[in-house]
Amino acid sequence: MASFIFTLLSLLFIIMFSPLLTWYQQNGRDLPWRRTKDPYKIWLSEIILQQTRVEQGMDYYLRFTEAFPTVELLASADEDEVMRLWQGLGYYSRARNLHEAARQVASRGTFPTSYAEIRMLKGVGDYTAAAIASFAYDLPHAVVDGNVYRVLSRFFGIATPIDTTAGKHQFSALAQEILPPKHAALHNQAIMDLGALICTPRSPQCTACPLADACIAHAESRTEDFPVKAKRTQVRTRFLNYIFITDGKNILLRRRAKGDIWQGLYEPVLIETDSECILPDLTTHPLLTPLLASDVTLTPLVADMTHKLSHQNLRTWAYLLRTSRPLTSDSLPTTSDAVVPYSVIPLCDLNNYALPRLITRIVEQTEFLNTL
Ligand code: ADE
Repeated sequence: MASFIFTLLSLLFIIMFSPLLTWYQQNGRDLPWRRTKDPYKIWLSEIILQQTRVEQGMDYYLRFTEAFPTVELLASADEDEVMRLWQGLGYYSRARNLHEAARQVASRGTFPTSYAEIRMLKGVGDYTAAAIASFAYDLPHAVVDGNVYRVLSRFFGIATPIDTTAGKHQFSALAQEILPPKHAALHNQAIMDLGALICTPRSPQCTACPLADACIAHAESRTEDFPVKAKRTQVRTRFLNYIFITDGKNILLRRRAKGDIWQGLYEPVLIETDSECILPDLTTHPLLTPLLASDVTLTPLVADMTHKLSHQNLRTWAYLLRTSRPLTSDSLPTTSDAVVPYSVIPLCDLNNYALPRLITRIVEQTEFLNTL
């Protein structure tokens, strides 16, 4: 009996959501990853789109698919090249997982074709597995992303917080119930586009919404009350002091070590402090004192520039330390944790090194490289 009622309810929901498919066929976005059924390219697009908006993600998608048209080519690429293409997207563990998953696929010979096998790839969670399974193979798996939480919580007027286990279960079950099994790809893309174009976080366009007639939040003029979140994210503030050490031809950089947000990316000499740190205090830091013994100039580049990551505010100061003595391996400062040493890198090769967005912001904003 219970399963009969469940099926009936599911059928009713599918009928209620059918205007969404018509709306999507007329208004959906024409995006390059929607023109392919290649699971590799769909997977690539989804990993990129977890990091950025569609407009910016498009460039990254085109660059990646041009550099690595097949999963085998991505698998055999050099890690530095993958990181360089990913540069600017942030959250670099995603790029490393992508690379590792490409190797998993290459070694098994073909891209997995079932949800369960896709879900086992490194870095692929429930959302990405459902997206690949439905978009590439039309398998009946509902995607649940921020757009889906917003559309469903508003449509059904559900106040269960989306960042709780109960909320996650409730919304996943509901998303699955409203999915027309024969049109999984179309429905999943449609609900995501509705969330991105119409049912937006602020000022949704309810007058243009194909689901407005049956939407509870719209009927009660309460769209801004949904979705509900239980907690605000804790944001940590860090104080970073970067010293660009150069002799005019070379610069000191190091590759960030394992277990780090920027693992595999290169950065200039960094002194992290517990609070704002003034220049005279930095000059007595053991990383810099050996260099300061010779003939150098120290110029401020940026002061208190804020760089926001999802859980961190990076308050950043940067300085240019120019030495008249050519940099050699003996002039390298040693890190206090001694994990990764700095290297002397020719400035003309800088473009070959993947840098965190924070560092490229400093370089672009101050244009100091042009003055060397
Ligand atoms: N965001 C995440 N995946 C997407 C997709 N396939 N199309 C548009 N936006 C998306």
